[in-house]
Amino acid sequence: MSDPASITRLATELQADHGHLDVLINNAAVDYDTDALASTADLSRVRKAFDTNLFGAWQVTLALLPLLRGSAHPRIVNVSSEAGSISELGAGTPGYSTSKAALNALTRILAAELRAENFLVNAVCPGWVATDMGGPGGGPVTAGAASVAWAVRLADGGPTGGFYRHGQPLPW
Ligand SMILES: NC(=O)c1ccc[n+]([C@@H]2O[C@H](COP(=O)([O-])OP(=O)(O)OC[C@H]3O[C@@H](n4cnc5c(N)ncnc54)[C@H](OP(=O)(O)O)[C@@H]3O)[C@@H](O)[C@H]2O)c1
Repeated sequence: MSDPASITRLATELQADHGHLDVLINNAAVDYDTDALASTADLSRVRKAFDTNLFGAWQVTLALLPLLRGSAHPRIVNVSSEAGSISELGAGTPGYSTSKAALNALTRILAAELRAENFLVNAVCPGWVATDMGGPGGGPVTAGAASVAWAVRLADGGPTGGFYRHGQPLPW
């Protein structure tokens, strides 16, 4: 997601193999920086988080929009986190939280711009999941994936420009 040539290659291959795309899930993210503070942040580290968590998702979306426009029911799901919920923010995780808040902002803007074209664009938090990032103690991957799949399976006319976990709205 942070390699423009790789993103272009993906779009070219999808175009050649399928000609259109129904669903884009921007899932990849990096650096849940629980060891960092905004007041002492290493901005090169924060920029690196933004490269994947915001600009990667944005660049992939731009590259695949022409293919999504070929779908009768296009869906974009940006996998976000409650850690990016501005109304809930406290100290810490500065790069991760600001990049996810920015991803949420992008979600709303894209949803508004693409609403007339039948797109549904939503941000989804999978909840705390026991992955490499989430670590032990989180819920099963299947539950996190189900939270994301909810936004994929929305019927036409369903919600767009929202922020959800397990199908329930989260505060911005
Ligand atoms: N786990 C949780 O508790 C939790 C909670 C809230 C939100 N989330 C969100 O859920 C999503 C999935 O997280 P996860 O828990 O599965 O994290 P993870 O275990 O760290 O997995 C992240 C995935 O993203 C890929 N990735 C990272 N940078 C990339 C890049 N530049 N280009 C392409 N792929 C890249 C990684 O690939 P490689 O392995 O090849 O590096 C890996 O497959 C993320 O958006 C995360 O913020 C997770």
